[in-house]
Amino acid sequence: MAGWLSGEVVELKRWTQRLYSLRVEAPVDPFRAGQFNRLSVMVDGERVARPYSYVNAPDERPLDFYFITVPEGPLTNHLVTLSPGDTVDVMAKANGFYTLEEVPDGEVLWMFATGTALGPHLSILKTEAPWRRFQRIVLVHAVRTREELTYQDTIDAFRDHGARFQFVPFVSREESPGALPGRIPAAIESGLLERHTGLPLTPDAAQVMICGNPDMVRDTSEVLKGRGMTRNRRREPGHITTENYW
Ligand SMILES: Cc1cc2nc3c(=O)[nH]c(=O)nc-3n(C[C@H](O)[C@H](O)[C@H](O)COP(=O)(O)OP(=O)(O)OC[C@H]3O[C@@H](n4cnc5c(N)ncnc54)[C@H](O)[C@@H]3O)c2cc1C
Ligand SMILES: NC(=O)c1ccc[n+]([C@@H]2O[C@H](COP(=O)([O-])OP(=O)(O)OC[C@H]3O[C@@H](n4cnc5c(N)ncnc54)[C@H](OP(=O)(O)O)[C@@H]3O)[C@@H](O)[C@H]2O)c1
Repeated sequence: MAGWLSGEVVELKRWTQRLYSLRVEAPVDPFRAGQFNRLSVMVDGERVARPYSYVNAPDERPLDFYFITVPEGPLTNHLVTLSPGDTVDVMAKANGFYTLEEVPDGEVLWMFATGTALGPHLSILKTEAPWRRFQRIVLVHAVRTREELTYQDTIDAFRDHGARFQFVPFVSREESPGALPGRIPAAIESGLLERHTGLPLTPDAAQVMICGNPDMVRDTSEVLKGRGMTRNRRREPGHITTENYW
């Protein structure tokens, strides 16, 4: 089918029982950090295809996709059977508007992710643009259990930016020293997140990117709207840029 390329699996990294990174070599078209491609396989003669964000920066290879197996999920349960040398189809062209080009300037860039939606934020932070455009950047990653705080080496590399970068993990379903408990919207509402970082989450200072679980995206957006923030639209710039994973 037009648009599909055959990619070669170079690594399937297993982080936990359910979390994996699939690394693929394929001659894809240039893309913007934060965009997604599609992974696809033929199962019983039918094409199964799903969108996945790039974790790698546009100039980085291999392509890196971070996924969780969902119970009975048709594609993810197939992806975990792949080995180096196997093929997986990808699209030549990436898609999506969860990119920094869609985000107006501001003082502080807040990036909120649940689970595997950490990926597009890492791709963006590996590029120069966010560091050129924002004085301070806060990456917030919310997971259920501590072992799901993955890609720590990648995140540690951003610490070269010193006090300009903060990483705030949330672990919701077990005690985890060093991580905040509970959920992102509650920590915004109570002021805990601003106290913890010492940074404002206000319309005059902040731009906010939110990606992952659609309930988290909705609940976080609602709390921010209560603070006078608006959705960022091309014709009417605001403060909130979002992407739902399902
Ligand atoms: C724009 C976009 C980008 C995406 N990027 C990624 C990505 O980088 N990594 C990734 O793991 N998934 C990503 N997804 C979700 C992905 O496309 C698949 O839906 C997912 O991997 C499950 O595929 P499946 O065929 O196994 O099950 P599906 O039939 O597609 O999904 C079954 C159910 O699983 C749940 N679910 C799906 N994806 C997730 C998820 N990531 N975390 C928690 N629950 C989920 C939902 O309840 C969904 O209805 C993205 C989705 C969109 C729309
Ligand atoms: N991770 C696992 O061990 C596990 C186990 C069984 C099944 N699954 C399935 O795997 C898929 C992915 O799970 P996941 O753990 O990566 O993603 P997830 O369910 O989206 O959870 C990630 C984080 O988002 C939080 N969250 C959920 N709803 C929220 C909301 N409305 N507002 C703010 N925060 C919210 C969760 O907090 P809470 O903990 O408070 O919900 C958790 O900290 C799901 O389909 C799930 O059913 C996962």
